[in-house]
Amino acid sequence: MASLSKILLLSTFSCATFIPSSQAVSGRAAEVRDDPAPVSDRAAAVKEAFEHAWNGYYTYAFPDDELRSVSNVGINTRNGWGATAVDALSTAIVMEETDIVQEILNHIYQIDYTQTDTTCSLFETTIRYIGGMLSGYDLLTGPYSYLGFNQSDAFPLLNQSMVLADTLSFAFNTPTGIPYNNLNITAQTSPDDPVNGLATIGTLILEWQRLSDLTGDPKYGDYVAKGESYLLNPSPPSGEPFPGLLGQDVSINTGEIIDTFGGWIGGDDSFYEYLLKAYVYDSSRFSNYLDRWLLAADSSIQHLASTPPTGPQNLTYLAEFNNTTLILESQHLACFDGGSYILGGLVLKNQTFTDFGLDLVAGCRNTYTSTATHIMPDSFGWDPNNVPADQASFYAANGFYYTNAGYYLRPEYLESVYYAYRATSNTTYQDWAWEAFVAINSTTRTPTGFSEISNVTDPTGGDKLDVQDSFFLAEVLKYLYLIFDDAAPVGVAADGVETWVFNTEAQYVFLFPFLLFSLGLCFLITLTLIDGADADLFDSPLKVVTPQNCTTAN
Ligand SMILES: *[C@@H]1O[C@H](CO)[C@@H](O)[C@H](O)[C@H]1NC(C)=O
Ligand SMILES: *[C@@H]1O[C@H](CO)[C@@H](O)[C@H](O)[C@H]1NC(C)=O
Ligand SMILES: *[C@@H]1O[C@H](CO)[C@@H](O)[C@H](O)[C@H]1NC(C)=O
Ligand SMILES: *[C@@H]1O[C@H](CO)[C@@H](O)[C@H](O)[C@H]1NC(C)=O
Ligand SMILES: *[C@@H]1O[C@H](CO)[C@@H](O)[C@H](O)[C@H]1NC(C)=O
Ligand SMILES: *[C@@H]1O[C@H](CO)[C@@H](O)[C@H](O)[C@H]1NC(C)=O
Ligand SMILES: *[C@@H]1O[C@H](CO)[C@@H](O)[C@H](O)[C@H]1NC(C)=O
Ligand SMILES: *[C@@H]1O[C@H](CO)[C@@H](O)[C@H](O)[C@H]1NC(C)=O
Ligand SMILES: *[C@@H]1O[C@H](CO)[C@@H](O)[C@H](O)[C@H]1NC(C)=O
Ligand SMILES: *[C@@H]1O[C@H](CO)[C@@H](O)[C@H](O)[C@H]1NC(C)=O
Repeated sequence: MASLSKILLLSTFSCATFIPSSQAVSGRAAEVRDDPAPVSDRAAAVKEAFEHAWNGYYTYAFPDDELRSVSNVGINTRNGWGATAVDALSTAIVMEETDIVQEILNHIYQIDYTQTDTTCSLFETTIRYIGGMLSGYDLLTGPYSYLGFNQSDAFPLLNQSMVLADTLSFAFNTPTGIPYNNLNITAQTSPDDPVNGLATIGTLILEWQRLSDLTGDPKYGDYVAKGESYLLNPSPPSGEPFPGLLGQDVSINTGEIIDTFGGWIGGDDSFYEYLLKAYVYDSSRFSNYLDRWLLAADSSIQHLASTPPTGPQNLTYLAEFNNTTLILESQHLACFDGGSYILGGLVLKNQTFTDFGLDLVAGCRNTYTSTATHIMPDSFGWDPNNVPADQASFYAANGFYYTNAGYYLRPEYLESVYYAYRATSNTTYQDWAWEAFVAINSTTRTPTGFSEISNVTDPTGGDKLDVQDSFFLAEVLKYLYLIFDDAAPVGVAADGVETWVFNTEAQYVFLFPFLLFSLGLCFLITLTLIDGADADLFDSPLKVVTPQNCTTAN
């Protein structure tokens, strides 16, 4: 059994890698587009914003990680490997920006992932770098092979992902297998912090499992699954105040959850996101992840859903908790929650979840449309006993007050609007996305890019904070573009039969069973070719004979 699955994995890998660029891996939601349809004016406007952001980065910051978009210099925030370039690759592919794709590929080929002067976050490195490279690999060898990049263009994306994952893998060498998050790559050591967090442990499985499934080496997925097992079987009971809802801090030495505070907020957020998405990725292998998502989703509807006593009627927010006491606060980061419920509603065919998700999206929209800039503050509250005196009338009118007025170019609201639009085809959600885009474009734009701002309740946005985050290109502009480009070859499927999921950085993760299915024919051919060839796979991909019929069967 084990060796058969290894052969299956290898054949999937080799077909995906060596498929001719004139033939695409295609599927119901991933059709070959030889003759791209013209995009809408709105999609073109988003593309213009992407070019603006990229050109500023490329001119003033490349190959540093991010652009200081006011002072026009580069800054290394993510180990100096060119985070914005790697993170933006899949967006450039989806927008068919082939020159930018080539620039990014040329860069990725020569990154040395074994060296960095700064502390490396396992989580951030996974979602941006490994996620970005695997996404580019799957897109260029699959639905976007019509862009004309060949196997030798795409192959280093996979190879570099392995180099990076191998470099990081010492992080899992702990008493429990729960990884350290903060790493000294060069020395292969971690500062002795015995605590890791829910999100930083629970947001690795998609990327590392995908790497295992593409390379046929199960070790990557196995590393992550071991640490995650403590989150799937949490202890002690105090660490799970409501069924499925966990505290935030986890002991690396014992696997115990050591506090009682949490929510769908930063520090926890993408742990819940990945419970569902791991199930979507492989429903048989990760069915226990779905069980945990269902517990959390039901508990949140029952215990965390909260309506402010003031403001527009029927606003729905999700509260935070400390033990079973609710804290009536939330964050921009949490606004992915609507999208998670909608995706759950689609794949489980459960309208209750979809409708609740749409309510959460509407709640987040209220925090956008209510401010002077029409952009949401980074965090907000709605506790009638905690309203700041100078925000009393704002609270009465709008049903929330800000606790941090900044906007840090975050994507989560637009991410959820994207799911809302795909699930309903209701063009109101396109309008919601457009109004947010116009606001972001007019308030955060600089002559060379886009910048975080300090105060969304001031009509000017307050100060420009001189940072253009890589996720603005990876996520904000990708979700916006996909909302307006209905002809894109890949999109969330309204019937719930998904062929890929986004990681938490809006990087594509193509489904393992889907590839196996669509490459079934390829599998048979490859079995004969692969015999003894796996040792050579990583040295010389072009030596392997290309199977001629590796197209999908549907
Ligand atoms: C990594 O460890 C080496 C050797 O101890 C040390 O010189 C270097 O400063 C450390 N790097 C970081 C980012 O802490
Ligand atoms: C693949 O494309 C690159 C340019 O993108 C080119 O240099 C190379 O020769 C191509 N390889 C094959 C086998 O077509
Ligand atoms: C608010 O929700 C209640 C219960 O779902 C519904 O009866 C009522 O019509 C809603 N009011 C508005 C203004 O949407
Ligand atoms: C949660 O409650 C505990 C016990 O009352 C307290 O020590 C801790 O500071 C609280 N945590 C937060 C984030 O409020
Ligand atoms: C959490 O709250 C419950 C119910 O009020 C209480 O029984 C329990 O002791 C609390 N747990 C902690 C760790 O404070
Ligand atoms: C949908 O989910 C809700 C909440 O978990 C549950 O009560 C309901 O039974 C589910 N409906 C279906 C059709 O599965
Ligand atoms: C479209 O969505 C908006 C916002 O949720 C809603 O008010 C409207 O009723 C929806 N339209 C249809 C036709 O469902
Ligand atoms: C974005 O801002 C630029 C510069 O002000 C402007 O030219 C462009 O029309 C704006 N786009 C949208 C959609 O408002
Ligand atoms: C934000 O701007 C508003 C309007 O100018 C001002 O009243 C408020 O004090 C500012 N808040 C912060 C945190 O700067
Ligand atoms: C893949 O990476 C290894 C280093 O781990 C390197 O030796 C090898 O040449 C690379 N292969 C290709 C085809 O890039």
